[in-house]
Amino acid sequence: MASAVSSLHAGSGNERFNAEAASWDRNPFVHKASKHAADAIIPRFPALRSPPGPDGLDVLEIGCGTGLLSLILAPYVKRLAAVDAAEGMIDVLKTKLEGPGTPQNIVPVAVLLEDPEDRQLPPADEKEPDGKRLKFDLITSHLVLHHIPDLKTVLTTMLGCLKEGGSVALTDFENTGPESKRFHAKSRMGGVERHGIHRDTMAALMNEVGFVNVRVETAWTMDKSVEKFEGEFGDAGRPGELQGEIQRFPFVLCTGERKFCQ
Ligand SMILES: C[S@@+](CC[C@H](N)C(=O)[O-])C[C@H]1O[C@@H](n2cnc3c(N)ncnc32)[C@H](O)[C@@H]1O
Repeated sequence: MASAVSSLHAGSGNERFNAEAASWDRNPFVHKASKHAADAIIPRFPALRSPPGPDGLDVLEIGCGTGLLSLILAPYVKRLAAVDAAEGMIDVLKTKLEGPGTPQNIVPVAVLLEDPEDRQLPPADEKEPDGKRLKFDLITSHLVLHHIPDLKTVLTTMLGCLKEGGSVALTDFENTGPESKRFHAKSRMGGVERHGIHRDTMAALMNEVGFVNVRVETAWTMDKSVEKFEGEFGDAGRPGELQGEIQRFPFVLCTGERKFCQ
């Protein structure tokens, strides 16, 4: 069953992301990370072209936040449903979409997506708004998987949202060992379910859920200012002057397809 955003359980990270929504875009790291994700994803899918051709893709982004990646991808796609569980994030995205010159093919949706037939997703047929929901050519999700309590469940939902032959392109930081915990400052651990993605574990899970042509690879690296000791950045969660040190983090791109039925 689909969950209304308001019914999210405490500790899901929803409160954290609602609280951070208004200041999210002030952090240069999230802009750079979304740019890297787009640079990793776009060349993998020849149908991602600007402007999109007649074979333009229907794209679903799960955990779009304020739409940083959605807005980069929009010119390359037919339509992009931008979904986030935090209403605050979606409100920021909606404000951006009211600005001049912004893409008109983004559909913002505030929902914790658990059901491929969630009524809040666009309908497969505009003439039947209450009918079956749209199935997508491509699903993206960037810096989200490490917040998801049950990866198997979300991967199953993704599979159910894809057309036959459709693909996922999921990006997040990689878990390379105990040092990966330093990605988040101590005060930013709310809603963090794991310290990045293990390549082999993720590939095995995607295969188990039923994806085919699964690949999980390191796609780029980024330098991030991290705490020298736990709690150094205090409640701000970001380094003050002379605080922190630089650590390099690899990021994974996880791709897989929904197989065609015989
Ligand atoms: C770290 S933020 C990343 C936001 C955005 N992708 C970016 O890079 O700027 C993670 C986002 O995922 C959202 N999220 C987490 N679990 C979700 C779920 N199951 N469905 C939809 N959104 C989810 C959170 O609300 C949050 O906005």
